[in-house]
Amino acid sequence: MKVVHRLLLVAVTCWLREGGAPTVAGDPAPACGGMPVPYPFGLKLQYARSVEFLLNCNTSEESRPRLLLGDMPIRKISVEDSTMVVSQPELYDCYDKDGNLTNRSGDLFINLTSFPQYRLSDTRNNLIVLGCDTYALMTYEGGTFQSGCVSYCNNSVDLAKGITCSNLGCCQSIPKGLKTLRLRILSLDSHKSVWQFSPCGVAFVGDRKSFNISNRTLPTSNDLGKKTDLVLDWMIGWDVTCAQAMLNWSSYACGNNTYCNDYAGGPGYRCFCKAGYEGNPYNRLHGCQGN
Ligand SMILES: *[C@@H]1O[C@H](CO)[C@@H](O)[C@H](O)[C@H]1NC(C)=O
Ligand SMILES: *[C@@H]1O[C@H](CO)[C@@H](O)[C@H](O)[C@H]1NC(C)=O
Ligand SMILES: *[C@@H]1O[C@H](CO)[C@@H](O)[C@H](O)[C@H]1NC(C)=O
Ligand SMILES: *[C@@H]1O[C@H](CO)[C@@H](O)[C@H](O)[C@H]1NC(C)=O
Ligand SMILES: *[C@@H]1O[C@H](CO)[C@@H](O)[C@H](O)[C@H]1NC(C)=O
Ligand SMILES: *[C@@H]1O[C@H](CO)[C@@H](O)[C@H](O)[C@H]1NC(C)=O
Ligand SMILES: *[C@@H]1O[C@H](CO)[C@@H](O)[C@H](O)[C@H]1NC(C)=O
Ligand SMILES: *[C@@H]1O[C@H](CO)[C@@H](O)[C@H](O)[C@H]1NC(C)=O
Ligand SMILES: *[C@@H]1O[C@H](CO)[C@@H](O)[C@H](O)[C@H]1NC(C)=O
Repeated sequence: MKVVHRLLLVAVTCWLREGGAPTVAGDPAPACGGMPVPYPFGLKLQYARSVEFLLNCNTSEESRPRLLLGDMPIRKISVEDSTMVVSQPELYDCYDKDGNLTNRSGDLFINLTSFPQYRLSDTRNNLIVLGCDTYALMTYEGGTFQSGCVSYCNNSVDLAKGITCSNLGCCQSIPKGLKTLRLRILSLDSHKSVWQFSPCGVAFVGDRKSFNISNRTLPTSNDLGKKTDLVLDWMIGWDVTCAQAMLNWSSYACGNNTYCNDYAGGPGYRCFCKAGYEGNPYNRLHGCQGN
């Protein structure tokens, strides 16, 4: 039980109202399997801002081409808020009535170290744990830090009625600016006392905008192997602040009618359209336009 005491239990509200995403205005962008690849990204070096923004469109499969960041399939790139959504597996474990493990996914390990401009988004992602005898541990930045959360219930619960995190599928925020994250799913008592209504657990770090706990039930063996949306923040420059980047106008990335924002206090900066303007803030030619 020692490990349990080390868990940092933070109850957070996990329902944010979903805001309308602005549509991308600007130059027609290349696409991979129907997914637009807006500047500063590109499939060829001459269309990308730099080699770090080159993306791989994997056409080697029989299925339709897939846009990849490393080995992570990309689901969406947003230039308006400098985020990228990638697809990641949910973790799971299942037990029989004696508490023997019957099925378990491996740990999830995310390593963005070789992509200097990406961080896990702390404003968009939560750790979500579903199950009545389930906990998940997050280890980050070389194993120095660990936190996690526990979901425990002694009766079958209806997640559709869930309005708080406690007991009904817990959710917790993640630290700011992570480049690496390891996630493990575990059980306190091998689901022995809850097996009849909760034989399995599920855990993932994912986009709270696209997650609705009302759409889920306590996991069973039919709910294994799902994918979740993980949100990455990206920076246009990662070794300078806004103030430093502005000193060199020819390499400064933000277009007309934008403002510059230091990421997590910098170094690292991102561009955003000024209020009342929209478009691709990284397009130096057109910038953001009034509407
Ligand atoms: C493309 O996908 C195939 C099948 O998933 C994989 O074997 C191959 O390594 C991928 N190629 C690249 C360049 O990622
Ligand atoms: C299941 O657990 C029981 C009790 O711990 C043990 O005796 C048994 O060998 C286990 N069965 C399997 C198939 O592992
Ligand atoms: C575990 O679940 C996966 C995904 O549903 C399935 O492919 C696999 O066969 C299962 N393994 C066992 C031992 O049940
Ligand atoms: C993460 O990836 C980097 C670069 O590929 C590598 O040097 C490093 O060892 C990896 N970190 C871990 C914890 O595996
Ligand atoms: C479930 O837990 C509650 C609160 O700890 C307790 O009052 C109740 O008796 C428990 N029910 C069962 C069936 O163990
Ligand atoms: C939840 O389910 C409703 C109704 O099936 C659907 O309209 C909605 O898009 C789902 N929400 C999410 C976040 O999956
Ligand atoms: C979540 O799903 C429920 C049931 O499908 C729906 O009534 C509710 O509006 C959804 N909430 C959000 C924020 O999408
Ligand atoms: C400004 O940026 C340009 C383009 O990246 C570069 O060629 C030039 O050396 C930079 N000038 C200074 C003073 O750093
Ligand atoms: C950018 O803004 C400046 C100053 O407002 C203006 O002179 C210039 O024409 C604009 N460039 C474009 C491409 O809109």
